[in-house]
Amino acid sequence: MALTFDGLAEVAMARDLLRRWWGLELGLTDAKGGGYDRTSHAACESVRGMAAAACAKELTDVATQLAKSRERGAVAKTCHAGMLIVAAPVFNIAGLAGLVFASGGSSDAAAMEQGLVRTIAVSADEARALTAAAPRVPEGDIARVKDLVASAAAAVERALPTEIPPTAFSHPFDEIVGDAPAVREVVKLLGKVVKSEATVLVHGESGTGKELIARAIHYHGPRAKKPFVVQNCSAFNDNLLESALFGHVRGAFTGAVKDQPGLFQVADGGTFFLDEIGDMSAALQVKLLRVLQEGTFTPVGGTKPVKVDVRIIAASHKDLAAMVQHKQFREDLFYRVNVLKITVPPLRERVADIPRLAMHFVKKHWRGSSPPPRLSQSALARLVAYGWPGNIRELENEMERMLVLAGDAPELTASMVSTRVAGMVAPPAKSLRDALATSEADALVAALGRHLGDRDGAAADLAISRAYLDARCAALGLGGSGSSS
Ligand SMILES: Nc1ncnc2c1ncn2[C@@H]1O[C@H](COP(=O)(O)OP(=O)(O)O)[C@@H](O)[C@H]1O
Ligand SMILES: [Mg+2]
Repeated sequence: MALTFDGLAEVAMARDLLRRWWGLELGLTDAKGGGYDRTSHAACESVRGMAAAACAKELTDVATQLAKSRERGAVAKTCHAGMLIVAAPVFNIAGLAGLVFASGGSSDAAAMEQGLVRTIAVSADEARALTAAAPRVPEGDIARVKDLVASAAAAVERALPTEIPPTAFSHPFDEIVGDAPAVREVVKLLGKVVKSEATVLVHGESGTGKELIARAIHYHGPRAKKPFVVQNCSAFNDNLLESALFGHVRGAFTGAVKDQPGLFQVADGGTFFLDEIGDMSAALQVKLLRVLQEGTFTPVGGTKPVKVDVRIIAASHKDLAAMVQHKQFREDLFYRVNVLKITVPPLRERVADIPRLAMHFVKKHWRGSSPPPRLSQSALARLVAYGWPGNIRELENEMERMLVLAGDAPELTASMVSTRVAGMVAPPAKSLRDALATSEADALVAALGRHLGDRDGAAADLAISRAYLDARCAALGLGGSGSSS
């Protein structure tokens, strides 16, 4: 994705001021300092005409230095031809995306004259004339030029669409997105689990993808063509749950006007996903244990046992082992269920997957015929900085909401992120204090975004301590788990 100044109000303003006050032009380069389009003066153009490689190297050196240090803001240096270069980096998630720069002015006339004589072999008189005609930037003005170049670079950076680096992790479970180490572990385990018939326990917070994993096990395994049945064990009261799971015979209770097969029969030959198994009553735990041990159960009110062939995948957000300790869950059932255990990490432990997941949901919920909208860096920064207590489901809902707000706009921007996720209400700044708080919050969020939520990295980036960063985030009501993962 090439960088562009198009349509950016801050760039237009910076460019205008640079031209009016110093006669400087704003230019852009790629991440290697190449492909630059504009310089400020004929002398600079002549040098470029004769020593293009050396000019490119000057900008490449700046780019390399900035990429290495991840330094923010603009740097000023004197080039090989004695002219001034002021350049500021534009970063995206993957690293340096390019430079915004102003070059071709002089802040030191003697250096420029000598540089021109050296690089383009003009006479001293010609060099003096060229220097006199070049934009002049007094030493004392350099700080202001740097500010303007940096603000233009920040605007370009904010507008940058998010490029998600391709993952080197490929696996057959296309529906499971992510390549954080914990996700890789899960997927590796899945490869083995699908081939076996063993009972699986999936443990993880609500919205982390437990059901997605259960479905993957079923649909990638030998039972794929048979039913996949889901029942949440905390949804019903005990009697209803029992009759839903095991069915009932006619007359078993008031209203039982005919035999009704249970879900275990529906799932025969297939897979039964028992969600929130930790909420099952003691009585039902006994019945389930029998299904696991003998493959049989008796419908409510019935006398004849029914035999089924069902693979069970159970899920819980609770710690079943601890429940066993507290006698809230049967130990024998626990060992039957816990044959293969898959632990799904919460989203805050795989922050690096947020960009990829966010784009996945944009594509998943995009209903238009044109390509789906892009995701701006600033929007992504806010998504990455948030703590996601509701995990992946909450992220999915947020992306759906943003798509609705975006309509047919080509880009999802920071203003479309809900205030809950963005962590703060940003009313149009009225007082200086509001304005400062808003830009401080923007800087914090952007730094957290660049560092994928890593607070130590963000603090280093902003040249503040980790403790101060935490304190300012708290004071400004910015979300985030406070962990650096
Ligand atoms: N790794 C993932 N890749 C893609 N979508 C995911 C992933 N994890 C969860 N989801 C999606 O997030 C939503 C919530 O997941 P779900 O499996 O229902 O969570 P849980 O059962 O743990 O509450 C679903 O729409 C699911 O498809
Ligand atoms: Mg669920």
